[in-house]
Amino acid sequence: MGVTPKIAPSMLSSDFANLASEAKRMLDFGADWLHMDIMDGHFVPNLTIGAPVIESLRKHTKAYLDCHLMVTNPIDYVEPLGKAGASGFTFHVEVSKENWQELIQKIKLKGMRPGVALKPGTPIEEVYPLINSENPVEMVLVMTVEPGFGGQKFMPEMMDKVRVLRNKYPSLDIEVDGGLGPSTIDVAASAGANCIVAGSSVFGAPEPATVISLMRKSVLENQEKS
Ligand code: DX5
Ligand code: ZN
Repeated sequence: MGVTPKIAPSMLSSDFANLASEAKRMLDFGADWLHMDIMDGHFVPNLTIGAPVIESLRKHTKAYLDCHLMVTNPIDYVEPLGKAGASGFTFHVEVSKENWQELIQKIKLKGMRPGVALKPGTPIEEVYPLINSENPVEMVLVMTVEPGFGGQKFMPEMMDKVRVLRNKYPSLDIEVDGGLGPSTIDVAASAGANCIVAGSSVFGAPEPATVISLMRKSVLENQEKS
């Protein structure tokens, strides 16, 4: 399998008042990406950060900023996030049924990598057109909790979606987000996930570096088995 593991600590679990040093700490611990949860208080009942914070963080790091847009109107965020220095732009399929083609095109034009996310209740079939398109998304984020908050319990039943996707698309980046950590990583990795978002399990660990390397090892070992 050609997909490399990407371990992405979710900065939602960090100390937002010290975002730059928290980011550096995670990269020093071995993180590949930094997962940035952007919420609008409308698509989800929580409000977090937006382009100004991404722009500020970008001044302190060259890291891949994996932005997860839990917002009702993702298209409004393309220009500001592109300018701010976001790397990945993952929008939710539930709010982009009408304009995903335009959205993908704009994201790429702004130099970002497009991804599509789906909530637990959304069937996997809904993202197929976006992958099979001439101008496709480059990552699918399978939510393993209801979006909105960190620290929730992993939903193993979402692994069917990951398995089906991995069988269909061997070289696609498949990200899982919500409740990932040492006790759930093997289930996700054996289903075929290679991009792993983890907030509370990494930030809450006495040794975050150990958790990060354990998750990377699980992805690699499961890839060798398959
Ligand atoms: C939830 C967010 C996640 C969250 C994951 O809506 O998309 O990225 O931070 O946090 P944990 O790993 O604690 O479930
Ligand atoms: Zn997220």
